[in-house]
Amino acid sequence: MNKPTYRQRLTKSGIAIIALLVIMIGWREYSKSMTTNDHAKQRSDNYSNQLQVPPLLDYTKVDGIKLFNLNAQKSTYQFSADAISETYGYNGPILGPTIRATRGDKLDIAVTNNLDEQTTSHWHGAVVPGDADGGIHNIINPNETWHAKFTVSQPAATLWYHPHQHQETAKQVYNGLGGFLIIDDQDSSSLGLPTNYGVDDIPLVIQSKKLDQSGKLEPYQVSHMEQAQGLEGNTIMLNAQVKPYLNISTNLIRLRLLNGSNSDTYNVSLSSGQEFYVIGTDGGLLEQPVSVTTLELTTAKRYEILIDSSAITGDNPALMINNSAELLFTKKEQLTDKYTLPNSLIKFDELPNAEIDRDFDLGMLMGNQDSMMSGRMNFGINDQSFDSNRINFTVNADSLEYWRIYNDPSGMSTNHPFHIHATQFQIISINQEKPPDLLRGWHNTIDLKPGDEVVLAVPFAENLSGTYMYHCHILEHEDAGMMGQFQIQ
Ligand code: C2O
Ligand code: CU
Ligand code: CU
Repeated sequence: MNKPTYRQRLTKSGIAIIALLVIMIGWREYSKSMTTNDHAKQRSDNYSNQLQVPPLLDYTKVDGIKLFNLNAQKSTYQFSADAISETYGYNGPILGPTIRATRGDKLDIAVTNNLDEQTTSHWHGAVVPGDADGGIHNIINPNETWHAKFTVSQPAATLWYHPHQHQETAKQVYNGLGGFLIIDDQDSSSLGLPTNYGVDDIPLVIQSKKLDQSGKLEPYQVSHMEQAQGLEGNTIMLNAQVKPYLNISTNLIRLRLLNGSNSDTYNVSLSSGQEFYVIGTDGGLLEQPVSVTTLELTTAKRYEILIDSSAITGDNPALMINNSAELLFTKKEQLTDKYTLPNSLIKFDELPNAEIDRDFDLGMLMGNQDSMMSGRMNFGINDQSFDSNRINFTVNADSLEYWRIYNDPSGMSTNHPFHIHATQFQIISINQEKPPDLLRGWHNTIDLKPGDEVVLAVPFAENLSGTYMYHCHILEHEDAGMMGQFQIQ
């Protein structure tokens, strides 16, 4: 990156930026105090509904291909007993059913757009051909159906799907679109892990949205400051429910955690403060369970965890999110003693370090005076804003590349969870150091705090081709241009 030019431009725009930062810091403090108050208000009238788990989507099998149907639609939904909200959902009022498939399956997922705007459907974390990836070029017009056809060729993992309509992603996700895509394989089903869907194997999407006084979803609208920081709601919800409870019936439960928020970072813990075990990351199972007492999920992150029921103790035991009891646990008197915590899970090769192939500098665009005057923050990668007509670079199928990513904090310092389509990568280093155990294994987002530099080993599978995106997964940053595209050939 061309540092001197960058600095010159920084000085030019410096005063405007400082003024904006002063406004923003004030606003951030104000919004934090608002959030706390709103949470306190919500707390009293909840824990009365049982956690709902998205239904498994049925399929028909035609010529050896599993055919699934999704309908993106507008609907209404009640986040609270006394207010009706306008929402988007797949096959229902909000979120979507879980698609479950096995490694080796041939899939045809038909997505029908019953919204009155364009959308796309992206299989986040799936290693699929570019024309099935559901990025910004696979547009589904209203009343049309798009078929994503691919063979599941990756290990067992908890993936998800969500819209990727250019500059509309944040709004469409906020309005409710999103669902789980769970992949099983022989390893994952022979380890004796909890697999009773909805009973001891539970997908849990954590999101925040803005509800008004009456509990109604506020329309998606972001101020300039929210565009810069990412939208954070005033209410946390789990599978679209506010403070539900979960009844535990086995000695060990597995939660498939997904941060499906526009921008929030969540810290997950148990109210007892006791340990739980991370068994899987974005891209599949770890080699061994990693014991933690708190777990950070930035947006789009998935972790599979096992919780031993003996750690669910005390008065009103709960799953805590950012230190607030968001999921109350109730226990059956007699738990079924079904599972044991495995010592080891799967084996995979740790990729070695090597020379860097590409550099990515994440930051604010300093050059654009118009955007400075209007107060709009523009984010970019390598000082460029996203351009759908520009392919930023080309990579070869069946190759391994080394990418260095840097979060440049000048102008505005914020975290950027960086995501790459078409691959699951390994993290070689974070600020020159080996990653902690939790960040070993396969990932497809990596959070960069201001000033962080990470090196990733990024494999591209054989037989892949087409156009794919890489971007910051704070959806407001993505929509504001912090995205690029590459081609696999
Ligand atoms: Cu989950 Cu390109 O995104
Ligand atoms: Cu993705
Ligand atoms: Cu970002």
